[in-house]
Amino acid sequence: MEMVEKADHAQAEMLKNFEEKINRGDAIEPKDRMPDGYRKHLIRQISQHAHSEVIGMQPEGNWITRAPSLRAKQILLAKIQDEGGHGLYLYSAAETLGISRDEMIALLHSGKAKYSSIFNYPTLTWADIGAIGWLVDGAAIVNQVSLQRTSYGPYSRAMVRICKEESFHQRQGYEIMAKMMKGTIDQQEMAQDAINRWWWPSLMMFGPHDSESPRSGDAVKWKIKRHTNDELRQKFIDKTVQQAEVIGLTIPDKDLKCNEATGHYDHGPIDWDEFYRVINGNGPCNKQRMDHHKKVHQDGAWVRAAAEAYRQKKEKQSLN
Ligand SMILES: [Fe+2]
Ligand SMILES: [Fe+2]
Repeated sequence: MEMVEKADHAQAEMLKNFEEKINRGDAIEPKDRMPDGYRKHLIRQISQHAHSEVIGMQPEGNWITRAPSLRAKQILLAKIQDEGGHGLYLYSAAETLGISRDEMIALLHSGKAKYSSIFNYPTLTWADIGAIGWLVDGAAIVNQVSLQRTSYGPYSRAMVRICKEESFHQRQGYEIMAKMMKGTIDQQEMAQDAINRWWWPSLMMFGPHDSESPRSGDAVKWKIKRHTNDELRQKFIDKTVQQAEVIGLTIPDKDLKCNEATGHYDHGPIDWDEFYRVINGNGPCNKQRMDHHKKVHQDGAWVRAAAEAYRQKKEKQSLN
């Protein structure tokens, strides 16, 4: 009994220190003691973020060989390569919490870990590459700028680096759209068709409305999350509507209008049935994305084996 009381006391003391630190605005570092719930929340969020960066390379990779110019191909290649790098920073950040990259990949392959549903939509035309950069990376930036101030040190530092590259991604997408809107009628229609298909899934990237988001409570209290889903979505809408107007694209929402009282754009209802359908595995490309990831992971087994053999050889040499 006494032992239990002692353990309870130590636990309460740890929690108190942890919360004081969070309230002071100090970063939590890997060696600091932290509540289990905090660690678990971060592992889930950071690994999901890492998986999204890597799976997101697939829809864009679909257009590397068909980019309309050498310049466009170089830019797209650089962008996709950046996304691979983002995945690596984030896997490393998650590993500081005591999970291995192999474990994270296994959870992804078994369907227990998720990635952003936006990447379960197909890229049908070149304009989709513009729409992804402009809208999807644009939405990611809003979220990631906010996460630069997240309470876990390694995650926050990864975000600072990632955000520098994301603004280039957003600009390359917007440039594609702007160029197409100055082109032929067919090109303009292609650009409009892309925004028609990508607009609503981009709004869904911020997750359910605050009133429907049960996990937000702890995440806000622990300063993992610095802004709510609806706040971030509103920021994205406000900046993007104006960008669409400048190049002559129409946002596919008849209810969209500037609310003079709030100074923000009000939007029409989001189709949450579609959101949950895609999250639960029934989007247009879920199976294709997962099958491809598994196959490439399998094909790359020899690289991991070679790297491990090299590591062991070096270790032996340093012992001699
Ligand atoms: Fe990224
Ligand atoms: Fe990006």
